[in-house]
Amino acid sequence: MARILALQGSPRVQGNTRAVLDFVLEGATAAGAVADVIDLIGLKHLSGCRECFACQGQDDAPGCAVDDDMQLVLRQTLASDVLVLATPVFCWSPSWVLKMALDRLYCMFKFGDDGQVRCLLEGQAVAGVITAGGGNNDGADLVEETCRRMARYSGARWLGAFVAPNLKGPVAVRGDHALAERARAFGRQIARA
Ligand SMILES: Cc1cc2nc3c(=O)[nH]c(=O)nc-3n(C[C@H](O)[C@H](O)[C@H](O)COP(=O)(O)O)c2cc1C
Repeated sequence: MARILALQGSPRVQGNTRAVLDFVLEGATAAGAVADVIDLIGLKHLSGCRECFACQGQDDAPGCAVDDDMQLVLRQTLASDVLVLATPVFCWSPSWVLKMALDRLYCMFKFGDDGQVRCLLEGQAVAGVITAGGGNNDGADLVEETCRRMARYSGARWLGAFVAPNLKGPVAVRGDHALAERARAFGRQIARA
């Protein structure tokens, strides 16, 4: 049974991204996975990476010195099998909310004196759920590549991204049965990975 943790990076907790993510997780849980969602915007305290490198003093734990709600996210990330990065495209990038969390995941990387990089996420799997107002090539492609690179650098398995382009608003998204079916199929796929 795959344990899925989704980091939901839209500042709109009931926006397009959450609507598409819900479809994906419906498919995943129907296929036997258990899924948790963290709405990153709902965390009381979430700050960016301070580049203090305290994390490099610990080999087998995140070791992040920033004492905020990201500590919980780090623990839950390590306890999951599949990490889902869910975000709208904001100016050809992941949302600022998800980007803060991605930067804080830097503490999972351990840079050896021999030039080798280890990552505490090695062996886990990573997938993306990306929503966009524009087409596939108006930034969603770049966000997908960011998520894929993050997975590859981590030594995690990249399960691919579900990209929902040309979206209007959450009401239209929730009523789009064809989109829902495609998203559920992606969810079933990541549950089995
Ligand atoms: C600040 C901002 C920047 C955006 N930049 C892009 C962009 O570069 N490319 C794109 O396709 N859509 C862009 N969009 C549209 C959003 O990606 C799209 O509406 C998304 O589905 C919103 O998801 P949400 O409701 O979960 O926040 C932008 C929207 C906002 C608010």
